[in-house]
Amino acid sequence: MIYLDWNATCPPHEDVWLVMRAAFEDGWGNPASVHRVGQRARSYLDRARASVALLVGRDGRDVILTSGGTEANNLVLTSHFTEHENAGFVVGGLEHPSVLEAAYELSRRGAFVRVVPPEPDGRVTVERVTAELERVPAGTGPVLVSLQAVNHETGVIQPVTEVTRAAHARGARMHVDAVQAAGKLDPAHWDAADFVVVASHKLRGPKGIGALVTMPHIEVRPQLRGGAQERGLRAGTQDAHLAAGFAVACERAAAHPLVGDETGRLRDRLEEALVRLGEAHGLGVVVNGTAPRLPSVSNVSVSGWRSAELAAALDLEGVAVSSGAACSAGTPEPSRVISAMLGPARAAEALRLSLGEATTEADVDGAIAAIERVFRRCR
Ligand SMILES: Cc1ncc(COP(=O)(O)O)c(C=O)c1O
Repeated sequence: MIYLDWNATCPPHEDVWLVMRAAFEDGWGNPASVHRVGQRARSYLDRARASVALLVGRDGRDVILTSGGTEANNLVLTSHFTEHENAGFVVGGLEHPSVLEAAYELSRRGAFVRVVPPEPDGRVTVERVTAELERVPAGTGPVLVSLQAVNHETGVIQPVTEVTRAAHARGARMHVDAVQAAGKLDPAHWDAADFVVVASHKLRGPKGIGALVTMPHIEVRPQLRGGAQERGLRAGTQDAHLAAGFAVACERAAAHPLVGDETGRLRDRLEEALVRLGEAHGLGVVVNGTAPRLPSVSNVSVSGWRSAELAAALDLEGVAVSSGAACSAGTPEPSRVISAMLGPARAAEALRLSLGEATTEADVDGAIAAIERVFRRCR
């Protein structure tokens, strides 16, 4: 199988497997126990917090381990809602559902929520965020701004540094979902943000673990209660073997960015071939997300092809790609991100191809050949 769906999840790195196997054997104790068996498990958690901090450029004491990006994003929004009466939210229009759905739920519970419309090129601009902040009605409590650092479907890089500055200038707090950006973008992008969220499985670590990183002075209101784990901010016995794998994944990504010029060269070759093959077979292929983006992602709409059907045809040819975000795969609804940027027709035909550090020239050659076979068969 040629795997071109790295934004959905990544194959765990061999070093991650090795440390997880060791932690299965000697880290099965309860990290809260004071004896040495517990302390051994706890050492894996401490290493994970330190490694997350290294990756995102913060202090390990400000890291709260969670079950992943979804829980961490939900925790940021619900904590803000619980802490402040009349809380307000200004949320980017292309956020992951773990932010947007949480915001809609808080709106149903009485919070003031504005969703910032995106540009057709895939950006959510500082001007639009600022305009929404200026429209917040008098009497609304403190506002939280949520903006992802990188979009999960197009790879477009969002202006989180500028938006953080604009939010702070208006007394708002800033939440950056860095799930698709950590290990790929310089952490300086979210240097001043109050909350930063990362997920292990997007970094070649295990699934089921992620982190919320806060500024030191920020209080978080726990949503899970009943234990002193994670300083009482996220109750529940932690899994040391997941933490061990997460730590190594973060350390690898901190040492070497997970995507770079070589990934960009392969992505560009693939994208150019798609456009060329589309022309040769009488199909229009257009790129979705023309603003500056990560070098690892290509999102294209192929005219006349419903993306779920094209993804299924490529799967039969041995190429794994995605027709929308992984969490909505299996449902017929088109990509909400592309729909918000470019309308439902473009979204219905939007296919995401995402590469990673193990993608090779041979993978790209194989994918191009498979695309050609599918296009030719269906002419
Ligand atoms: C931008 C973004 N945020 C949050 C998440 C959710 O993270 P997790 O899968 O760890 O719950 C994802 C997952 O695809 C994502 O792409």
